[in-house]
Amino acid sequence: MPNQTSVKDYIRTIVDFPHEGILFRDVTTLFADPRGFRMAIDQMLHPYAGMRIDKVVGLEARGFILGGAIAHQLSVGFVPVRKKGKLPGTTISEDYTLEYGEAVVELHDDAIAAGEKVLVVDDLLATGGTAAAGIKLVERLGGEIVGCAFVIDLPDLGGRKKLEALGMDVHCLCA
Ligand code: PRP
Ligand code: ADE
Repeated sequence: MPNQTSVKDYIRTIVDFPHEGILFRDVTTLFADPRGFRMAIDQMLHPYAGMRIDKVVGLEARGFILGGAIAHQLSVGFVPVRKKGKLPGTTISEDYTLEYGEAVVELHDDAIAAGEKVLVVDDLLATGGTAAAGIKLVERLGGEIVGCAFVIDLPDLGGRKKLEALGMDVHCLCA
């Protein structure tokens, strides 16, 4: 793809996926491009330069790709928040609703130590239900969330307001 200058330029929109009426923001094209992917990781990290971060928490599934790269860049550990039934150890769980369904997310109960500084990462903020559930899980273990980083914000769905009402510092690269 020639002449891409911003992260948004690498993201495509698929109409009516996975259901009619949904404009699906597809980040696979961003992840597949070496310049786009590096740009996204660098920009997601920028607001947190110089801050203490002990763990990166990624939200399934696309938050794993971003969160893994961010954790590697910071030389810190990565922790997955997974959909119900995927984690093998003892877990804590939270129910949530999203733009097109309901779900449960889980976290290993020993994945975060009390007082650890955590950066929460995902590709997209829509209703904020997924991120709010992940935040609750981290906070239940005593983790202190320094920020929530996303590539895309869908502001009409209210996710940013929901997370800010929880006291979160929210950074998104594009809308
Ligand atoms: C998408 C996206 C976020 C979430 C955002 O994941 O990657 O995790 O939805 O929506 P919300 O702000 O309304 O909660 P999805 O649930 O489609 O799961 P997947 O990444 O495993 O496909
Ligand atoms: N998750 C929730 N809403 C979404 C959307 N419109 N595109 C991609 N992922 C989503």
